[in-house]
Amino acid sequence: MMRPKLNFVFPFPFMLLITHWFLLALHGSAETSTYIVHMDKSLFPHVFTTHHDWFESTIDSIKSAKLGHSSNQSQKLVYSYNHAMYGFSAVLTLEELEAVKNSHGFVAAYPDRNVTIDTTHTSEFLSLDSSSGLWHASNFGEDVIVGVIDTGVWPESESFKDEGMTKIPNRWKGTCEEGQDFNTSMCNFKLIGARYFNKGVIAANSKVKISMNSARDTVGHGTHTSSTIAGNYVHGASYFGYAKGVARGIAPRARLAMYKVIFDEGRVASDVLAGIDQAIADGVDVISISMGFDGVPLYEDPIAIASFAAMEKGVVVSSSAGNEGPDLGTLHNGIPWLLTVAAGTIDRTFGTLILGNGQTIIGWTLFPANALVENLPLIYNKNISACNSVKLLSKVAKQGIILCDSESDPELKMNQRSFVDEASLLGAVFISDQPLLNEEGHVSSPTIVISSQDAPSVIKYAKSHKKPTATIKFQRTFVGIKPAPAVTIYSSRGPSPSYHGVLKPDIMAPGSNVLAAYVPTEPAATIGNNVMLSSGYNLLSGTSMACPHASGVAALLKAAHTKWSAAAIRSALVTTASPLDNTQNPIRDYGYPSQYASPLAIGAGQIDPNKALDPGLVYDATPQDYVNLLCALKYTQKQILTITRSTSYNCAKPSFDLNYPSFIAFYRNNTRSVVHKFRRTVTNVGDGAATYRAKVTQPKGSVVTVSPETLTFRYKNEKLSYDVVIKYSKYKKKNISFGDLVWVEEGGTHSVRSPIVVAPSGIV
Ligand SMILES: *[C@@H]1O[C@H](CO)[C@@H](O)[C@H](O)[C@H]1NC(C)=O
Ligand SMILES: *[C@@H]1O[C@H](CO)[C@@H](O)[C@H](O)[C@H]1NC(C)=O
Ligand SMILES: *[C@@H]1O[C@H](CO)[C@@H](O)[C@H](O)[C@H]1NC(C)=O
Ligand SMILES: *[C@@H]1O[C@H](CO)[C@@H](O)[C@H](O)[C@H]1NC(C)=O
Ligand SMILES: *[C@@H]1O[C@H](CO)[C@@H](O)[C@H](O)[C@H]1NC(C)=O
Ligand SMILES: *[C@@H]1O[C@H](CO)[C@@H](O)[C@H](O)[C@H]1NC(C)=O
Repeated sequence: MMRPKLNFVFPFPFMLLITHWFLLALHGSAETSTYIVHMDKSLFPHVFTTHHDWFESTIDSIKSAKLGHSSNQSQKLVYSYNHAMYGFSAVLTLEELEAVKNSHGFVAAYPDRNVTIDTTHTSEFLSLDSSSGLWHASNFGEDVIVGVIDTGVWPESESFKDEGMTKIPNRWKGTCEEGQDFNTSMCNFKLIGARYFNKGVIAANSKVKISMNSARDTVGHGTHTSSTIAGNYVHGASYFGYAKGVARGIAPRARLAMYKVIFDEGRVASDVLAGIDQAIADGVDVISISMGFDGVPLYEDPIAIASFAAMEKGVVVSSSAGNEGPDLGTLHNGIPWLLTVAAGTIDRTFGTLILGNGQTIIGWTLFPANALVENLPLIYNKNISACNSVKLLSKVAKQGIILCDSESDPELKMNQRSFVDEASLLGAVFISDQPLLNEEGHVSSPTIVISSQDAPSVIKYAKSHKKPTATIKFQRTFVGIKPAPAVTIYSSRGPSPSYHGVLKPDIMAPGSNVLAAYVPTEPAATIGNNVMLSSGYNLLSGTSMACPHASGVAALLKAAHTKWSAAAIRSALVTTASPLDNTQNPIRDYGYPSQYASPLAIGAGQIDPNKALDPGLVYDATPQDYVNLLCALKYTQKQILTITRSTSYNCAKPSFDLNYPSFIAFYRNNTRSVVHKFRRTVTNVGDGAATYRAKVTQPKGSVVTVSPETLTFRYKNEKLSYDVVIKYSKYKKKNISFGDLVWVEEGGTHSVRSPIVVAPSGIV
């Protein structure tokens, strides 16, 4: 609760206030919270000149009605919103909230809530560096502006220098806001805007001291994501010698604008909304948002609400699926009108183990120094090989390299690693196929992980030789590792809890051990327990790191196809994504290592930028199409209005059948057969006349029919429709099954693929 100072000069209102607090306290409603309040724009009273005036007056009228005009009570306008949503946020008691609900133009209100953050070789892995393709067609994203909603930016990073950048486009309306350790000369032709929003954090706790009151990043997350999207070329960037090379963003000539909404002191929806509101007003083309709200319906999800407004303006919103995998239904941002990105692995590993007999094994380590662990005895002994006792390990610490081998329980492996750290070994080798060991990233002792496949020869050597020795080589980088990509354990899986009828995530992009810029004030590595090391570049993992890859590709597509809608760009990304890894087998699921990944983990598959440039056909959608879906969901008029802000949409044609580039059908456990019908319309964005034939891979237990089976386009931009019928007739184990529909161009190069998922309704 906000506490006004008690050294009041006027006794009368003071008494009144005391009484009022007392009464409220008795009723248990004196507690204040920040509420986000949606208003009806069509009811704007024209006695006011601005929306802000109207909202302020709404708040003032509650204040004067109850407490007289001399007091500053809890009612405080935090933000007015006019772009991402229509309304305001304010600090209110429950009683005051009730009064707001009765005021003119009120639509809906809900409490402010916390947001969850989803914590460069990647451009080669995505084949962007070919002599033709998307980089060239888009001129590397020149003049596209990407708004990043995040933790701020470290403007001095090499990645944000503006060498080679041209003048800022005239349409840009943003600014470089001054603040703590941040002034306007820190923006340039690359970082063209930087603003910060923390009124919501302050409203939640008026005593809070904001430790970095500016757009400067103190966490590293925003610096990393924004440099992944559009960092400039930096030669010789590496993480302590690992992943060394030219660091650059996916769209190296695009512009960046940072909207800092996450502070060490808090991260709330009202600030996130304010950041997106400003980004839309400033004129960004793409919004990248590596965070989400869990467990909220679409009409109370700030990202769903704000991204609807963005989508109307043709702004592509790219978001992270979350890090709550591998269980089904853990995803956030599964919003029908934005792009939801899952995280995959990269074909890269670091470090080698060399045995005394000359055998060389490529392993995985990120120990941040060129430690000399050479020709030391290799110790393999049953008593200590579990590596689960600091006491036992300490006894042999100085004798050589310990081979740690035991259960494959990932928790145990993590503990083993900390025991090894604590015992200060000269070196250790872990045997593990647990990707989590690598996905967690950092290593603070001179250790290496090898796979169980490589383990037998090492154990055999250690057991059979009289004096086995080994060497660990650090700061080595190997690419082309197979299989890759695989979906990571942590990447959140669909179906989307907020609406399961659209297949989410949409696509997968690199998310594990991504090298990008970092803040020099936070440790990027540790050696032992006490030595902290900083680095201008860091390897981070998460769907937070996958999302900016997709945002960068969306920026390139925006540059290459300036007229395409957000739905068309998403469609191009989905229908050209690859379901195969670099062994030409289906992408694997590291959450369930024996299985291939389902589209509920990877969507259509790994993003393929060069193919997305020229998708052949696109599945487009208008804002009204999404509203038809909201109508079919039986949302109330007010719930729809919170999202659309405008009464110009109608519910004349409610429909679940959104023109989406993928299919998902659910069946009830006990039904023997179910029929689902879908109708889709594709737009020919190829060069001219073209004929496409349908090719279906049937999901097990279902029969999918497509009609017509041939689509003949006579000219560019022609639209044709087709029907899909999915007949489910019992699949023995009630499993999720999946297949696809590919429209293959006759005598041409395009193939337009849509994943199909058939799942029991029990998983929702
Ligand atoms: C009341 O609010 C006004 C303007 O918002 C401010 O200038 C004033 O200091 C506040 N008074 C108190 C007692 O908080
Ligand atoms: C901004 O800050 C930098 C570094 O502190 C300083 O060199 C520069 O002169 C400042 N620019 C302005 C316009 O104040
Ligand atoms: C939101 O975060 C703050 C800390 O930033 C915490 O104190 C509060 O309990 C959180 N609220 C919820 C609902 O999780
Ligand atoms: C292993 O442990 C047993 C019992 O604790 C002990 O007798 C034996 O000497 C140990 N072996 C080695 C190689 O340390
Ligand atoms: C099918 O489901 C059963 C249990 O429901 C599970 O044990 C099995 O692994 C699943 N198979 C596949 C291929 O997903
Ligand atoms: C349907 O099956 C799922 C798992 O197979 C189970 O969790 C769920 O309770 C079942 N629902 C009904 C209505 O039987």
